[in-house]
Amino acid sequence: MAIKKVMVIGAGQMGSGIAQVFAQSGFTVFLHDMKEEAVQKGMQSIEKLLTRSVDKERITKTDKKDTLNRLTPSSDLKDAASCDLVVEAVVENMDVKAKVFQDLDQITPAHTILATNTSSLPITEIAASTNRPEQVIGMHFMNPVPVMKLVEVIRGLQTSDETYQTIDSVAKDLKKTPVEVNDYPGFVSNRVLMPMINEAIYTVYEGVASPEDIDTVMKLGTNHPMGPLTLADFIGLDTCLYIMEVLHEGFGDSKYRPCPLLRKYVNAGWLGKKTGRGFYQYS
Ligand code: CAA
Ligand code: NAD
Repeated sequence: MAIKKVMVIGAGQMGSGIAQVFAQSGFTVFLHDMKEEAVQKGMQSIEKLLTRSVDKERITKTDKKDTLNRLTPSSDLKDAASCDLVVEAVVENMDVKAKVFQDLDQITPAHTILATNTSSLPITEIAASTNRPEQVIGMHFMNPVPVMKLVEVIRGLQTSDETYQTIDSVAKDLKKTPVEVNDYPGFVSNRVLMPMINEAIYTVYEGVASPEDIDTVMKLGTNHPMGPLTLADFIGLDTCLYIMEVLHEGFGDSKYRPCPLLRKYVNAGWLGKKTGRGFYQYS
């Protein structure tokens, strides 16, 4: 099926990046959020990144203008009625996502594919909140979206081959590399990454070393581009905690128990870079 018009829901760090890559690849895009100020912030962040690309002579001023012309801010979910594809990137919470999908199922035409950028929640369960589970799929982008090449494409139990093929092809249109993954907690990326981040947090909690030293060990000793605690702050500590809880509950294995220090920081509102404080402080 030809995808031309897309809505991205949630204009946070992931949603704004996803909207940007769609618009840069020629798709017409609505960037929607329930908070007006989040949409404005998302649009400003896109404009800033495009200006940087113009300054670096990677794109022309005309490319920037054309990309921005393809993007429309939206504070009304009903704008999805004209879209062929919706990519949801709201908070990592099953109740919130299920409600968004129920609403989308009512608003969008029968052909529309409903994709979720969830980091870990079961696609099959999100799909079950709609009457079109065969058109629901995971489209998991990595942060920062404009830079990272991977998209995990996750099939729910009832996702059709046609839906899978369409999303695989759209990911290639975005110049990303899609990888097919089945629907198990954390998929591949976060099943492997998040226990490492959680273990780094235990290493702080047990006083083995400071956050700076743990990050230095992993950067210089294992060639990670960012240390695990810098990466946790970058992803968002709330998102890290949600993912650990999904792994813990989904597998019923104590090896996935979230570190109490992670829980404490989230309870304090220290969510990492986005709130100015996590394992590090940001101005
Ligand atoms: N948005 C857009 N572009 C960004 C960016 C952002 N937030 N942060 C950095 N960039 C761009 C920079 O503009 C720069 O591009 P230029 O060529 O224009 O200079 C480029 O990325 C490199 O940036 P820097 O030189 O400033 O810094 P760097 O070399 O350290 O790279 C990084 C930054 C790409 C983020 C790198 O540190 C990195 O790869 N970190 C690990 C990222 C990672 O693991 N992501 C996956 C997280 S897990 C996930 O996403 C799944 C989940 O469900 C939680
Ligand atoms: P974020 O907190 O930066 O943004 C979430 C946005 O969703 C906010 O602007 C919020 O106002 C909006 N929102 C919440 N409920 C909504 C609703 N019902 N309708 C419309 N908008 C709503 O979060 P994020 O880091 O961008 O993560 C978004 C999703 O992407 C999550 O599912 C997360 O697990 C996933 N993800 C995150 C990362 C990461 O590194 N942060 C990477 C890959 C996937």
